[in-house]
Amino acid sequence: MEYHFTKHKGLFITGTDTGVGKTLIAGAVAKILSQKGKKTGVFKPIATGCKKTRQGLVSEDAEFLKRCTNTELGLEIINPVKFAKPAAPFACEKAENRKTDFVKIAVAYGQICSKNDYVIVEGIGGIRVPITKEIDVLELAKAFSLPVVIVARSKLGTINHTLLTIDAVRQAGLSLAGVIINGYDEKTKDFAEKTNTRIIQKLGKVKILTVVPFDKKTNMKKFIIGRKILKSLKKVNWLKIK
Ligand SMILES: Nc1ncnc2c1ncn2[C@@H]1O[C@H](COP(=O)(O)OP(=O)(O)OP(=O)(O)O)[C@@H](O)[C@H]1O
Ligand SMILES: [Mg+2]
Repeated sequence: MEYHFTKHKGLFITGTDTGVGKTLIAGAVAKILSQKGKKTGVFKPIATGCKKTRQGLVSEDAEFLKRCTNTELGLEIINPVKFAKPAAPFACEKAENRKTDFVKIAVAYGQICSKNDYVIVEGIGGIRVPITKEIDVLELAKAFSLPVVIVARSKLGTINHTLLTIDAVRQAGLSLAGVIINGYDEKTKDFAEKTNTRIIQKLGKVKILTVVPFDKKTNMKKFIIGRKILKSLKKVNWLKIK
């Protein structure tokens, strides 16, 4: 893809899969930075599975991200491309007879950058999720040229998914900021869960930015982020990541 969006300071948050905690972590980091007084923007370029409202399609991820910051920017800017079906954008573009408009994404992102010192971008699904026939999330990430953070599960199966994602990010020539292990059960007796983090760090030769515990007090629908989650993310010096 020959798109290059505005160059800015920030992060591109991807994951090893859908539902791994990208929005929760992106929102929590945005909240932490906003509370520190840093003007922090959030961006969800493409969302699928949007709810139908009187104002049109609305992404719950975008609503959550917006609530984590003090931004006055509207949801149309925070999430310019929306589809209704809960599927990959490439599947949606056919079914909903609309194409992903990358110019619209570039314009919205430019607006967010102009109003903020730091921007947190959430991808969609995992990095090989197709947006069009030619363009997947990894290609989209390249257009931002932001350091990439991979959110990974803590349980059995995560080594494979995480190492594959790390390889793809590096092969694309993107800067890999590190991996966040999310949803860790602090009382786990599970052998895989206890050993996964260390193995990913060693075999992936990657920085584990932090291990985020599972926090049952979290309720994204009510915009509540558990305190344990914020505590583990506050350990990272986000502004230093390049
Ligand atoms: N550490 C955690 N503790 C408790 N609940 C969590 C944690 N991480 C994620 N969740 C819950 O898991 C669900 C999925 O999280 P989230 O929406 O952030 O995932 P996602 O990767 O952004 O998904 P999508 O691919 O749909 O964008 C949410 O209900 C969230 O509250
Ligand atoms: Mg999400």
